[in-house]
Amino acid sequence: MRILVVGNGGREHAIAWKLSQSPLVDKVYCVPGNGGTRLEHKCENVSLLKIEEILCFAKENKIDITVVGPEAPLVEGITDLFKAEGLKIFGPSKQGAMLEGSKAFAKDFMKKYNVKTAAYEVFETAAEAMRYLTECSYPAVIKADGLAAGKGVVICSSFEEAKQCIESFMIDDIFKGAGKKIVIEEYLEGVEASILTVTDGKTIIPLLSAKDHKTIYEDNKGPNTGGMGVVSPNPYCSEEVLEAFKRDIMIPTIEGILSEGIDYTGVIFFGIMITKKGVYNLEYNVRMGDPETQAVLPLMESDFIELILKALDKKLDEYNIKWKNKHACTVVAASGGYPADYKTGFIIKGLDTVQEKVFIAGAKYDGNELVTSGGRVLVVTSLGDSLQEARVKAYNEIKKISFEGIYYRKDIGQ
Ligand code: AMP
Ligand code: GLY
Repeated sequence: MRILVVGNGGREHAIAWKLSQSPLVDKVYCVPGNGGTRLEHKCENVSLLKIEEILCFAKENKIDITVVGPEAPLVEGITDLFKAEGLKIFGPSKQGAMLEGSKAFAKDFMKKYNVKTAAYEVFETAAEAMRYLTECSYPAVIKADGLAAGKGVVICSSFEEAKQCIESFMIDDIFKGAGKKIVIEEYLEGVEASILTVTDGKTIIPLLSAKDHKTIYEDNKGPNTGGMGVVSPNPYCSEEVLEAFKRDIMIPTIEGILSEGIDYTGVIFFGIMITKKGVYNLEYNVRMGDPETQAVLPLMESDFIELILKALDKKLDEYNIKWKNKHACTVVAASGGYPADYKTGFIIKGLDTVQEKVFIAGAKYDGNELVTSGGRVLVVTSLGDSLQEARVKAYNEIKKISFEGIYYRKDIGQ
């Protein structure tokens, strides 16, 4: 089989790596891919960006299945376009992708189908939002409706902070349209978990739980990033938590998708909050997590393309995913300065001495040298019989890698 993987991050490197291990897969084209996918077994990078160009490439090169990494092409409608041309693609339709593409759509969907979530209100004018903010309780959580590159959620501890947030989202329009509509919701206190699931639109199967570490500094300090490290399974996801997640969130979600007649084959990634009052769904993502994928896929014993094929054939109810009886620890190495401004173009050294799996995120080849090209540069993932063993291995190996300004958190999984 010939596979196309859309995207250029560490997540897509992990997807391409896992798919390339399948005896069913002959070739994996990565569009555009990165410095890691370029050297992966069976993989080849193709530097295309526009959806129409990717579609032409898929047709001309007789691609059997396309797997979409990031949310943006899904929200743009890549799945509808590919399906209209008779091509198989793993990812939800444009309508399904609204679960991530519009927070107001997602919250209204959750309310309609009794998916447990924080209480909320939607506002389309700054004046109405301000009026609400004078009477609501704090902290209050303000969310831009549309895609805002992970920067669209602000937890405001006072009216003053909330007012500033509304001004920048709705009046100054810092997200170029994506913050013109907002959601204000109840603040929930607890611990977060990432649960990726695979669905064919009828059956939904959870993958192993994961715990992201969002802030740039140790101890949950500093601004949020795309994620600085992951452990899987998530130590807070007890059987009881997983049962509550399935009952109060996952099952009502798939029932809603069925009732609405939404065409959905792909991943639903639930960002949940485990609180004293129960388990709440904070958000849906319509793609795999980054860096969650780099921890979860190495734990998967099953052939990932078999799982995808079952989903595309709407036969997920026949499939049982097998997992390694191990723990994974994934540590992200970032450019100095990330998530604010950072410099790129620094040579990455020491990779040849690393004994654990390295997934490349923001790095590319400049001649024969691999150089940094993004904020999150690479991850090291280690597996162990215990979380502690996985952690020790990941940190021993990441120490061997260097580039100017390299930064990583020291407390992933602690
Ligand atoms: P979201 O994009 O909705 O997941 O929000 C990004 C981050 O904001 C989450 O990972 C949480 O850390 C935080 N967050 C979102 N909603 C809430 C909430 N209702 N209460 C507390 N924290 C939240
Ligand atoms: N790591 C969080 C995300 O992928 O959204």
